Amino acid sequence: MPAPVCLGTWPTPVESAPRLAAAVGLAADALWIKRDDLTGLGGGGNKVRKLQYTCAQALAAGATTLVTSGGPQSNHARLTAAAAARLGLRAVLVLGGEPPAVPGGNLVLDRVAGAELAWLPGATPERLRDEVECQAQRVRDDGGVPHVIPFGGSTSFSARGYLDCGTELLSQVPGIDHVVVAFGSGATMAGLVACLGAGRVIGVDTGAVADPGATLGELLDGMPGVRVRWADLRIDREQVGAGYAALTPGAAAAMRLAGRTEGIFLDPTYTARALAGLVACVADGRIGHRDRTVFLHSGGLPGLFGHAGLPQLA
Ligand SMILES: Cc1ncc(COP(=O)(O)O)c(C=O)c1O
Repeated sequence: MPAPVCLGTWPTPVESAPRLAAAVGLAADALWIKRDDLTGLGGGGNKVRKLQYTCAQALAAGATTLVTSGGPQSNHARLTAAAAARLGLRAVLVLGGEPPAVPGGNLVLDRVAGAELAWLPGATPERLRDEVECQAQRVRDDGGVPHVIPFGGSTSFSARGYLDCGTELLSQVPGIDHVVVAFGSGATMAGLVACLGAGRVIGVDTGAVADPGATLGELLDGMPGVRVRWADLRIDREQVGAGYAALTPGAAAAMRLAGRTEGIFLDPTYTARALAGLVACVADGRIGHRDRTVFLHSGGLPGLFGHAGLPQLA
């Protein structure tokens, strides 16, 4: 397997968050924020760590074009476009849904980075996969070499990006008890679990996949040398609410809390749900008052500016 290409700025900082800690009921010196929103490339976010591995595979295979899929506000699609630009490749993004009358958020950045967009109305995961394959064939027909990146950029190989993040965290915050992270397509949590063990990682489900436990288990099974009992995995499914695209009351409250205590902005889909999950874990004792806790800020802020719930936050 190829070595990762460097697309970001490492290590990302860790900041202590005493005001947020006190507001959620933790000891003031027990909460840190791992700033993976500051990974550097293309507005930053967790997908950069995964893309360092995926793009290494693409380059090793002689790819000319990265082809991937996501929702209209996919952070993964935006960062795939940015990674392609950085590496002199093309990007084709298959987006589920109809093009909006007024593009916003990630969608605008996809175009600024030069990606080609293909829209698929009424997309199911299967139809998205089929359309990605059609687009890859179109690239071949035009004489190019496509490299297909699966939904959310999650594979057992790209999860190594979060094994790296776990290693950074072990030196930045000795004696970590919990890391709380949003769960979408799963490789972020999988890599952290591979490094830190199942007991120290809490994944807060965002509703992006039907069965997050099975998705995570499969990613971990594909990682050499990683042995985890599925029963030990900690996935919190209480923050999905009305669904992936909804702005839940808990997420809106979490966005205000992080903004008002630490001047840190969260996105409505992933990081706000993750913080809402952390708040709930402290409230019911899954995280103890003095437990050394890391909130992983995985980025995603551009999505706020394309989210239907934006006016409710003003
Ligand atoms: C901002 C943000 N945070 C977290 C996640 C979840 O990461 P993963 O798909 O690896 O579970 C995503 C995935 O789309 C994301 O965009």
